[in-house]
Amino acid sequence: MKFLHIAVAGVLALAASGTVTGNTTDWTQYVNMFIGTEGPVPGTAYNAGNVFPGAALPFGAVKVGIDTTRWNVSFSANAGFTPDGNVTAVTMLHESGTGGAPTYGLIPQMPLTTIEGVNVLDNLTYMQPRIAEDVASVGYYKTQLQNGVTAEMSASMHAGIMKYEYPKDTGRYVLVDLSHLLPSTGKKEQAWSNGELERSEDGTWYSGYGVYREGWAWGGNYRVYFCGHFDTTPSSAQLFSGKATDPYWPNATDVRPTFTNKTSIKGGTVEYQYADRIGALFEFPPNATTVKSKVGVSWVSADKACQFLEEIPSWDIEAVKAEAQNQWNTEVLSKVEASTSNETQLEMFYTAMYHSHLLPSNRTGENPYWDSGEPYYDDFYTLWDTFRCLHPLLTLIQPKAQIEIVRAMIDIWRYERFMPEGRSHNHNGRVQGGSNSDNVLADAYVKGLQGGINWTDGYAAMKTNAEVLPYNNFDFEDPTGSTKEGRGALQDWKEYGYVTPARGRCLSKTVEYSLNDFSLSQVAKGEAPEDIALYRNRSAGWQKTWATDVTSLNYTGFLAPTYPNGSYQDYDPLSCGECEWGSISYEGVPWEYSWTTPFDMETLISLMGGPETTEARLDTMFTLGLTQSDQGGNSAGSTIFNPGNEPSFMTPFLYNYLPQRQHKSVRRSRELVDQYYNAGRSGIPGNDDAGSMSSWLVWNMIGLYPVVTQPVYLVLAPRFEDVTVRLGDSGSVLRIKATGLEDGMYVQSFKVNGQSWDRSWVSHEDIVRPGGEDSLLEFEMGSEVAIWDTGEVPPSPGHVKL
Ligand SMILES: *[C@@H]1O[C@H](CO)[C@@H](O)[C@H](O)[C@H]1NC(C)=O
Ligand SMILES: *[C@@H]1O[C@H](CO)[C@@H](O)[C@H](O)[C@H]1NC(C)=O
Ligand SMILES: *[C@@H]1O[C@H](CO)[C@@H](O)[C@H](O)[C@H]1NC(C)=O
Ligand SMILES: *[C@@H]1O[C@H](CO)[C@@H](O)[C@H](O)[C@H]1NC(C)=O
Ligand SMILES: *[C@@H]1O[C@H](CO)[C@@H](O)[C@H](O)[C@H]1NC(C)=O
Ligand SMILES: *[C@@H]1O[C@H](CO)[C@@H](O)[C@H](O)[C@H]1NC(C)=O
Ligand SMILES: *[C@@H]1O[C@H](CO)[C@@H](O)[C@H](O)[C@H]1NC(C)=O
Ligand SMILES: *[C@@H]1O[C@H](CO)[C@@H](O)[C@H](O)[C@H]1NC(C)=O
Ligand SMILES: *[C@@H]1O[C@H](CO)[C@@H](O)[C@H](O)[C@H]1NC(C)=O
Ligand SMILES: *[C@@H]1O[C@H](CO)[C@@H](O)[C@H](O)[C@H]1NC(C)=O
Ligand SMILES: *[C@@H]1O[C@H](CO)[C@@H](O)[C@H](O)[C@H]1NC(C)=O
Ligand SMILES: *[C@@H]1O[C@H](CO)[C@@H](O)[C@H](O)[C@H]1NC(C)=O
Repeated sequence: MKFLHIAVAGVLALAASGTVTGNTTDWTQYVNMFIGTEGPVPGTAYNAGNVFPGAALPFGAVKVGIDTTRWNVSFSANAGFTPDGNVTAVTMLHESGTGGAPTYGLIPQMPLTTIEGVNVLDNLTYMQPRIAEDVASVGYYKTQLQNGVTAEMSASMHAGIMKYEYPKDTGRYVLVDLSHLLPSTGKKEQAWSNGELERSEDGTWYSGYGVYREGWAWGGNYRVYFCGHFDTTPSSAQLFSGKATDPYWPNATDVRPTFTNKTSIKGGTVEYQYADRIGALFEFPPNATTVKSKVGVSWVSADKACQFLEEIPSWDIEAVKAEAQNQWNTEVLSKVEASTSNETQLEMFYTAMYHSHLLPSNRTGENPYWDSGEPYYDDFYTLWDTFRCLHPLLTLIQPKAQIEIVRAMIDIWRYERFMPEGRSHNHNGRVQGGSNSDNVLADAYVKGLQGGINWTDGYAAMKTNAEVLPYNNFDFEDPTGSTKEGRGALQDWKEYGYVTPARGRCLSKTVEYSLNDFSLSQVAKGEAPEDIALYRNRSAGWQKTWATDVTSLNYTGFLAPTYPNGSYQDYDPLSCGECEWGSISYEGVPWEYSWTTPFDMETLISLMGGPETTEARLDTMFTLGLTQSDQGGNSAGSTIFNPGNEPSFMTPFLYNYLPQRQHKSVRRSRELVDQYYNAGRSGIPGNDDAGSMSSWLVWNMIGLYPVVTQPVYLVLAPRFEDVTVRLGDSGSVLRIKATGLEDGMYVQSFKVNGQSWDRSWVSHEDIVRPGGEDSLLEFEMGSEVAIWDTGEVPPSPGHVKL
């Protein structure tokens, strides 16, 4: 490791800070970084949105923020932050909005004023309560610790910058416990394996790597390189090591550090899982009241981590923040200009836009395993959550990013045989239901994304999901089939046309595999016409499990867990038991999953008994008090429709498939947004899931809902008088205008590109016009229900009559 080759401020100049190309509006003023950080119990993260409130760029490779303790391990603090915990470190890697089990919280620094009573290997001896509310804005985070230190931070793409202000007359330390990570309980808990750390002679530089394992995504050891630099020469720098304390060996109070004045230290043999924990303790001279540090992170080498420090040429944290805000304004927030006098709505909207651009992480050039020249993205956490709303949003406003993401997914297939589903730290899965990467590709395909996507390979990757049974990783939570990648119950699907109760989550897998195969039939239209019929037929698999004689709450006909001989397991459509990996359906009851066939609503409505019964059954989804399934952080409210989780996402808008019932979708959209989303800290109903809930909100507020895998959007009603959606970098815009919003929520009349419109949906080509002209949606709103949607209902392109 050579520390000196980047000794001075790098050559990359900051873009003119504080100005925004093309628009001078600072949209970041409307981003409230704390929306979604608390749950229903104020001041706690229990059942929170789990969003990351720290500093990051769009799709940032690093996400710089604080990690805090929590005693109540409740699927919370997955992004490091809790409102009530004590700070244990500032770290560089985080997820946002995720549930499951925490992943990352890696590459730490902790500012301390004394080491008296401190065991550097035991965070409980140095953790710090906060004495004031944390302050956060786009690209910036500040926390004030009880020991008197004020810590501020900002981020570039691959590096963080920290500023620690120490009180007068105290010691000044920065502790780097390389084995720091977000803790949890259970078998998915992360652990430290080993690492190496070296420092420069004078202690102003340190670098090396840490090897960690597990977390929510499967996988063994993975290595993260880092490079730290201080603006101040430490008065002393000592490295330390101590015995491993992994989750099964947890008593850190038993472990004491051994310090050394050597300039490098190794925590055991490479890849050894019980190697010593290691770290460094830097002490700064009494005249240094402020210490600044930059830390770069790479997945490839320590040298590269050091080179990333060039992304932050000066020590001016304000300049780094200004550059971050500039990027968020230019690349993300100005893509949709919404005008309204209601600042609360602007705050909800732009915060949701912000949350929709944190994951996946852009690790292009940072793939440690192959260098193919293709873009590389990681932290798909998970496609099960994000395929419905997040990716269609990116396709519309960030086609360049979506193209990169799709190319990265296909490239992962090239090298690892399957596309990712729940990938983090370069490990492909866990798979919660179907191979929903298929849906992401199909959606991009039907909307014409090209930009270097090799669709021959894209279709081949989808075909792998559809035809190749993945190796069973014997997940302890469901050993009946792979949870690593692909479709773990593919043998059932191919043999019976549905997934039988011999496999975990048979009911939800059946309906998800149906959509997945519909996705194949969509891409086959262009890539393999000979396959269209095959996959369209297979997409009707859900119909084979439709139990025509099962009755629940007076409605007859539900998806059922169906044995090979066609009989079904005794079950209650209102219940999924634990709703977990071994249950009949995953995080959603059969009542909910029975609505999730957007490609063949025609058959669904007919199986349900026609439009009138379907309407009444839809109404029942929103009747208070009918739910019998409490799934903790994954559920909200008391209706069968669950606003807190993705399987229910599209249900409120299915009224559009019934003649002249669009007004009911609008009413649901309004009521759900008003009831479950707000600009407060608990303003997201459950885990944000990598921006899934937030992107659902964005769609609702602009008045459209994407029918994923089809070039179709359902028409709702906008919350704003005027919205300008920039369609990528094409220069074209989609303008959405509404008059009479103050009168009421119901659409009186609707025009598309100047033509009056009687259909409750628009096609992708209506809003992204092939000739590149701008598009225009005009709503006239009023207080009374008006029947304007007399035209044909949205299509059922996967209609199959069995
Ligand atoms: C910038 O945004 C504001 C507010 O929406 C708008 O009035 C203005 O026309 C925009 N300017 C440019 C140059 O796009
Ligand atoms: C965690 O906190 C929540 C909210 O206070 C509480 O309902 C729950 O029972 C707690 N869980 C545990 C394991 O203490
Ligand atoms: C935070 O630290 C304070 C003081 O050390 C301690 O009393 C409290 O229990 C800690 N709380 C948490 C959640 O760690
Ligand atoms: C803090 O210490 C506790 C108790 O030893 C441990 O369970 C937890 O993993 C540590 N937290 C971090 C962030 O290292
Ligand atoms: C951890 O070690 C300390 C000191 O040896 C001991 O007092 C304590 O009981 C141990 N705790 C556990 C949970 O083993
Ligand atoms: C490191 O060097 C300092 C200053 O020479 C000395 O006081 C200290 O004892 C040394 N520490 C170790 C562990 O050798
Ligand atoms: C602090 O003191 C050291 C010598 O002990 C000196 O080299 C350094 O320039 C001083 N720094 C400041 C900020 O005054
Ligand atoms: C602004 O919007 C919020 C959220 O939709 C709503 O609660 C509030 O009543 C609105 N304020 C006004 C003045 O309309
Ligand atoms: C992703 O990262 C690469 C390499 O840093 C960069 O060239 C590309 O523009 C980034 N993509 C997006 C969408 O920001
Ligand atoms: C797509 O990839 C295949 C190899 O799988 C290659 O034969 C083909 O030339 C590529 N197509 C394009 C347009 O690059
Ligand atoms: C699809 O199903 C239809 C109707 O059952 C049947 O005629 C056709 O042969 C099937 N095609 C394939 C490729 O399975
Ligand atoms: C089901 O029907 C019965 C008899 O008509 C009625 O009393 C009951 O309220 C209905 N239940 C629901 C949930 O609609």
